[in-house]
Amino acid sequence: MPRPGLFISFEGIDGAGKSSHIDGLAAAFRAQGRTVVVSREPGGTPLAEKLRELVLNDPMDALTESLLIFAARRDHLRNVIEPALARGEVVLCDRFTDATFAYQGGGRGFDLQVLSLLERLAQTGLAPDANLMREPDLTVWFDLAPEVAAERLVGARVPDRFESQPVEFFRRVVQGYAQRATAAPHRFARIDAALERHRVWQQLTSLLVRKGWLAIMVPADGGGR
Ligand code: TYD
Repeated sequence: MPRPGLFISFEGIDGAGKSSHIDGLAAAFRAQGRTVVVSREPGGTPLAEKLRELVLNDPMDALTESLLIFAARRDHLRNVIEPALARGEVVLCDRFTDATFAYQGGGRGFDLQVLSLLERLAQTGLAPDANLMREPDLTVWFDLAPEVAAERLVGARVPDRFESQPVEFFRRVVQGYAQRATAAPHRFARIDAALERHRVWQQLTSLLVRKGWLAIMVPADGGGR
């Protein structure tokens, strides 16, 4: 029996520190014999990366932004995520649809019903079961207060259209994530991202051990403190 694929997304506001843990997790899965695809959204395919550039840098309204993000997502699902899952691989994705509900829905205040419609359109009809709307098996939410995230990001790089938003925007984004977590408790796991890096890593790996997806507790993430 081939092993079933595993689709894990990582979410949180800018500065929550999720990206630094994804590579460590990929190494942990590989050490246990799994093939891992690490990807991100918007992005993950040549077309989706072009759309990412537009979304992060060009002025546009919230519907255009949402349409471009879901277009990128469908291309990514079709060309990268679904084929990897069909091969029984582990897909670790830096952001997925919960980010759209949090940033476009919460942050920008865009219509959640329209987002739900786009979600269904973009994420259905690509899996072996044509009726399935593809969603992550697990979504790890790195929860952090916007004020703390803002301090971490000071001077980090030239901010894009989202990173340059005021702290109130990120408060709404956090509320958006909280709503999604409440609506889908079966796949959401909240991690306290205010803790020290190694404590965050511990929370992450023990979560995956509890799920039975990592066999042993991995001692270190191989980087940072
Ligand atoms: P991010 O994933 O944080 O990458 P980097 O670490 O390179 O900045 O950047 C992606 C940005 O796009 C982030 O600010 C959130 C935003 N975004 C949305 O607004 N909606 C979405 O659906 C996704 C996936 C991302």
